[in-house]
This record gives sequence, C-alpha cells and structure tokens, in this order.
Amino acid sequence: MEFKHKSVLLDECIENLNIKSDGIYVDGTLGGGGHSYQILKKLNGSGLLIGIDRDLDAISAASKKLSEFDNFKTVHDNHANIINILKDLNISGVDGILLDLGVSSYQLDEAERGFSYMNDARLDMRMNREDKVSAYDIVNNYSEDDLYRIFVDFGEEKYSKLIARKICSQRENKPIETTLELVDVIKSAMPARALSEKQHPAKRVFQAIRIEVNQELDKLKQAVIDSILSLNDGGRLAIITFHSLEDKIVKHAYEKMQGRCTCPKDFPICVCNYKSYGKIVNKKPIVSKEEEIKENPRARSAKLRVFERIIK
Ligand SMILES: C[S@@+](CC[C@H](N)C(=O)[O-])C[C@H]1O[C@@H](n2cnc3c(N)ncnc32)[C@H](O)[C@@H]1O
Repeated sequence: MEFKHKSVLLDECIENLNIKSDGIYVDGTLGGGGHSYQILKKLNGSGLLIGIDRDLDAISAASKKLSEFDNFKTVHDNHANIINILKDLNISGVDGILLDLGVSSYQLDEAERGFSYMNDARLDMRMNREDKVSAYDIVNNYSEDDLYRIFVDFGEEKYSKLIARKICSQRENKPIETTLELVDVIKSAMPARALSEKQHPAKRVFQAIRIEVNQELDKLKQAVIDSILSLNDGGRLAIITFHSLEDKIVKHAYEKMQGRCTCPKDFPICVCNYKSYGKIVNKKPIVSKEEEIKENPRARSAKLRVFERIIK
C-alpha cells in the first residue's frame, strides 16, 4: 500500500526550526518523510538530516521519497534513545529536532496493522512490529482495573468502567481477536445514547490502547529533555502533539528546562543561580489555520511548541 500521510503544520515547523543550510537536523518521527523533505530542501551539501522512526514501513517509504538526497540517514529506533543514537553516529550536537508525535495516516489506514476501528484485522497497533506487546495482549490479559485505568488516563472515556467490565466478561468465553470484535464489545457496553454521538464510539478506547501498546507517554518527558540536551547553542526543538495529555507533558518539560528565578521580587539581581537550558519560543502553542483544517481534519487538534537551547 502506498504510504499516504499529509504533514501537519508544515510551514510553521520549517519556519520555527530556523534552518541553517549547513546544520545537522533530526526528524525524530520520520513517517512518510513530508517534513524531512522540506528540511532537506533547505540544506546544502554540508548539512545533514537524520530521520528516526520506530516503524520499518515508515523508514522504507521515507527512504524512497527522499532518495534524491545524499545527506540523509535513517535510524530504526525510538527517538527517546536520541542521546545514544547521536553517540553511535559520532555527533556531539544538532541544530534542530522535530517530533511530530502519534501515528501516521498510513498506519491507521493499513488494515493489517490493526490500529483502525473501521477495518477488520487482528488486534495489533504496534508501531514497531519487533515489540513484544500488542493490542491483543492488552485486551486479553490486562486486569479489569488496568483496562479501566488506561481507558480513563489515555482515552478520557466516560464509559471506561462499563467497557472494561464487558471486555473481561466477553473474553472468558474466547479471546477478543480482531479490531471489529473489539468495536462490537465496546458498543455493547455503552448506553444507546452514546452510540449516536458524532465521534465513533470506539475512538477513545482505541486511542488509549494504542498509547499503552506503544508506551507513547511513558518516555515522552525524558525524550523532550534529552532532545533539548542534544541541541547546539541556538538550536531548536519543535514538537507537534495531537492530544491534551501529550501537550501537557511537553509544556511542563519545556518549563522545567527553561527554569525559573526563585529570588524574592525585591532583590535587585538574581542570586538563586537557577539552571536554565534555554527558552520557550512560543508561550501559546501554534495551531493550524482554518484552510489547513479544511484540507486535513487531523490538523484540528495539532499543537506546535518550540524551545530554543541557550548554552551559557
Ligand atoms: C505523525 S507521523 C509523522 C509524519 C511525518 N512528520 C510526515 O510529515 O510524513 C508519526 C511517525 O512517528 C513514528 N513515531 C511515533 N512515536 C515514535 C517514537 N517514540 N520514536 C520513533 N518514531 C516514532 C510513527 O511510527 C510514525 O511513523
């Protein structure tokens, strides 16, 4: 299947990365290579782009799309390992990093990956197919309490308790094997009025399971901190998030890395020597314009936050 993905906030990312033509950049969520293509167009022969993705399908699709460029390297890994990835490449610092979090449209549309509540497939949802735990394991082995916790925490699902209970009673007869079987179980646990809401009834539970399978929030805070520590002076980190939980983690990690003077207000100079690794570039997140949302509804929930490294 062709790798289809429309890049979100493309111009805004490129503008905010302040790309230097001979700089070293990291696209930590390579996907279909849409953002990477625009970064590479701004680099000259001395510049370099490293594209990281935990999904081998993305690595191969992006490698094809970007085959006209020589100054492009791919790494099949989790961007949370950025410090070791750069160490292995003998790179001591980079000039910009982009993280466009979440899944690509390709991953959602490719039925056999088991991410979608619209197509029938074995429950899977692993971005990296070498990972051990899939959606099948979570749905069939997690306790009712653990299912409830992930549906509440990662899906903000109102009917978490009913759905977790129903999954556990259903799987006593036989395992829940496919995406559409799970959709039926979710629907059968919800009150009738919830089924006529605009949003698909299984959307929030599928999101929650996907986040748990891929441990998407677990390593995010450390990934933000390690990305900032990997930047050269003046280098920028641009992160696009798609839901409030991710955005909160990014915002708080940026605040922590910016640091804050704790001297009493009437002190003429700062004496607290607070540690700062740089500054938050935009206090409010950058969001998509109406035209972009019209063309790509996925852009509606996107938020871009940018941090600039300052080495004193
Ligand atoms: C939204 S898509 C990126 C799309 C890309 N910016 C483009 O324009 O084509 C997210 C991609 O990041 C990958 N991904 C998500 N979390 C990751 C992580 N922690 N480490 C590495 N790759 C990750 C996914 O596999 C997916 O291919």
